[in-house]
Amino acid sequence: ERIAVLFDLDGVIVDTAKHHYLAWKQLAEELGFNFTVEDNERLKGVSRMDSLNILLDIGQVKVSEAEKVELATRKNRRYVESISHMDESEILPGVSVFLAELKTNNIPFALGSASKNAPLILEKIGLYHAFDAIIDGNSIVNAKPDPEVFLLGADALNVAKENCVVFEDAQSGIEAGKRAGMKVVAVGDQRILTGADDYIESMEDTSLSRIKDLFF
Ligand code: BG6
Ligand code: MG
Repeated sequence: ERIAVLFDLDGVIVDTAKHHYLAWKQLAEELGFNFTVEDNERLKGVSRMDSLNILLDIGQVKVSEAEKVELATRKNRRYVESISHMDESEILPGVSVFLAELKTNNIPFALGSASKNAPLILEKIGLYHAFDAIIDGNSIVNAKPDPEVFLLGADALNVAKENCVVFEDAQSGIEAGKRAGMKVVAVGDQRILTGADDYIESMEDTSLSRIKDLFF
């Protein structure tokens, strides 16, 4: 049986959450309200526009559709500026070893990210060419928890969905993987993530033998 691995980007491959947080926080301050780290949890895995809507809801701010586009653009300009200095040292622990193990064993792997900045980030951390396919916020119509991003990944790798393992740090992404009919490994705090098939604290805690033993 051919198996494949699908990776979320933010929070699994690289820790961009703090950069997203600071950019959203600055926007909230300009709109006259405070945006906390706890609030930021709700934006993980969520598309840029959906994130803005949640933020505006938290601040109870109402704006026109045109203003929303302006606000999202402003936030993204700052986010891109803030990640512009990112390099391979920001690849999360365990990721490089696991990707190398997959390569050695000829297991194809793809990116399945909500981010429209995914290609830029992969370029910065030197992993753009490592992936067999990249499905990101530019390639999808429906954001997570819709399964589209992972189903497109399985298609691109030409592997049956039930033979795909998804690595996700966000609740919306775990749900997307399960709705895609795949095995899902939750990466991060077990107390706040539910519905996955395996839970690990960090990518250092996974390996090809662990996923084979558990799922295949
Ligand atoms: C996800 C992040 O990967 O991408 C979210 O977890 C983010 O926090 C989303 O909002 C969209 O990112 P971008 O780069 O397209 O604004
Ligand atoms: Mg994520």
